[in-house]
Formats: sequence, structure tokens, C-alpha cells
Amino acid sequence: MVVSMRVAVVGGGVIGLSVAWAAVRAGHRVVLIDAAPASGASWVAGGMLAPVTEAWPGEEHVLALGSASLARWPGFADRLAADAGRDPGLRTEGTLVVAVDSADRAELAQLADYLASLGRQTHRLGSRELRGLEPSIGTSVRSGLSVPGDLAVDNRMLLAALRAAAVSGGAEPIAVAATSVRAGAVELANGSTVGCDVAVLAAGAWSGGLHPALAASVRPVKGEVIRMRARAGALPPPSRTVRALAQGRQVYLVPRNDNGLVLGATQYEAGFDTEVTVGGVRDLLHDAELVVPGIAEYAVLECAAGLRPGSPDNLPLLGWLEPGVLAATGHHRNGILLAPITAESVLDLLAGRDVPAEVRAADPLRATAYCGGS
Ligand code: GLY
Repeated sequence: MVVSMRVAVVGGGVIGLSVAWAAVRAGHRVVLIDAAPASGASWVAGGMLAPVTEAWPGEEHVLALGSASLARWPGFADRLAADAGRDPGLRTEGTLVVAVDSADRAELAQLADYLASLGRQTHRLGSRELRGLEPSIGTSVRSGLSVPGDLAVDNRMLLAALRAAAVSGGAEPIAVAATSVRAGAVELANGSTVGCDVAVLAAGAWSGGLHPALAASVRPVKGEVIRMRARAGALPPPSRTVRALAQGRQVYLVPRNDNGLVLGATQYEAGFDTEVTVGGVRDLLHDAELVVPGIAEYAVLECAAGLRPGSPDNLPLLGWLEPGVLAATGHHRNGILLAPITAESVLDLLAGRDVPAEVRAADPLRATAYCGGS
């Protein structure tokens, strides 16, 4: 039997919304505290569910955690569609990684070797095969990898579905910013206090300002994206996500319904700056046009910047900070991917159960080792 607790979820991005929905589903009483839910990094995101193509040597814990969460995504999306009564926007066409010049091809070959050494199967493709799969890919692209298991989701359809499911399940929204979180209470910017049995700190890049144990371990990592749509007569966007190594830089192109396409993303350590820069837009367009030349004919819909919540080792901070305060933050480039396993783990922790094996490495207090805490 579930012991029903009063749970205050601080943060209404993809993680906070997923936790709030999972918690009401499990029978808890939930308040969801955010002055502007679904408006931060989760709103700007490309929406890749891509643990393999985001893999990086030395970050095998991140790959293991991401793979475990990706395995949960189809069930998560089905349950969400049923509870929300709307499509959460999962896309299952898969992912290609492509290379433009000879240095990019060498880097792609290294990535393929690294993934093979971990037992991850990818399929190497030449230029003709690539264009057979995705006719919009340009002739300057010479080689690629197919990673059919890396998926994508329309982040904005997902956020709408999560909000609908959380609120219809009984989560009570409080549209005021939190200023601090401690055991039993969340202080708000309007001077009031929300009492709770457990607070779940899921405030993304702002988490470090809300609890002293996170002050040195969560930092904003800026990313800029461009949203566009193929106009009538233009070659449609690829049906798969295309990630490219383009003359030494990385760019990704994530398709959306109705001929939409999201280009991303720059990555800077620039504090809490969310202005879109000319240089960021120029680089994204330059690199993406090398890969899919037809985007020159597309309509630009939006340029936006978001702040990823970076952690010292790129693993999230997921677990107890102190009795009564759970951290679910620091997801860096992988918040949307990691939403299912994060929500499941928060429920496990609330119920006193063990978390999945891959989550143990994300203990939030490990970060004190990196940050010089005691
Ligand atoms: N997940 C990709 C990014 O953060 O840009």
C-alpha cells in the first residue's frame, strides 16, 4: 500500500512535470511550484532521445543511465497518451550520424569503433546509402552511421501532455518562484511558505540557488536552437534525426511534424544569459546547410536559447540531499531522455525502495567530491 505524502515539486520543466505526474499517479498529493512552467530548457530543447549518439569516452555511466531510460520511453509515452488524452510526440524513425570533411570522417570512425568496443551495434553507410535513406542530405556528406535505436520526441507536445496528465491527476500548480528549499518547506518569492512531507528539487539550471548542497554542483550551460519549416516546393526535412560532424563542429537536425525541423545546438558557459547571438545562429545555419542544403528554402520560425543544468561529471543529481529533500536535477544535455527513469526513481525513493542500478551513480552528494565540499 502506498503511503500518501504531500510532495512539493519545485520546477515545472520536463523533469518536474514528469515527477508530478508520476507522483499523482502513485497516489501522492502534489503541488507543482513554478512561476512559468514549461518555459525553460525543456521548451527550447531539440528533443533527442539519443544515449548512443551522445556517448562520450569516459562517460559510460551517462550512457548506461540514458540507455536504461530510453528502454522505458515507449511505455512512458503510452501511459502518458492515455492519461493526458493527447499524443506526446514520440518519433521512432531513428538517428543518422554523418561526417562532412576528412577530419570529420576520422572522428566518425573513432565514434563507431568506440561504440563497437562497448558492444553497441551501428551500421556504417556510404554517401549513396545515406541519400537513399534521406534524399535531403547533401553531396558534401560522404559517410555516416545509422543508429536506429536513438529516437526523438516533440518536446512541446510532450510538455503539453505532461501538464495535462499532472493537472488532471490532481497536481496543484502554484505559479510563484521558489526561493529556497529545506526539509518540510519551500519558501516562495511572495513571502509565503509551502509545507510538505518531501520537496523534490527539479529546478534545472536554477537548482543551485535553492539548496546549499547544490550550490557548487549545478551550473547553467547555454544552448541556442533554430526552429524552421520547409516551405511549399522545398525538399522536405529528413525523417530521421541527423547529427553531423561538420568541419570540426557538431550540429543536429531533429524533424518535427508538418515539415518542421529543429537545428541545435550551441554550447557555452555564459552564466544565466539567454540572449540568442548572431554568431550562434550563423554557425548553426552554416553547419546545417552543409548537411541539408535545402534548408536555404525553409522559413525560420524561431531562434531561442535555453540553459541546460550542467553537473560536474554530466550525470544528473538524483537522490536524497537530506531527509525530506530529494534532488532531481543536473540532467545537462539529457533531461528529456532521462525523464522516465528520473520519475520512476523519485517514486522508488519516496516509497523507500532501491533505485535502478544505473541510477546509483547519480547520487547527488557525490558531487561534493568534485566541488571541494565536506
Ligand atoms: N541534448 C542536446 C543538447 O543539449 O543540445
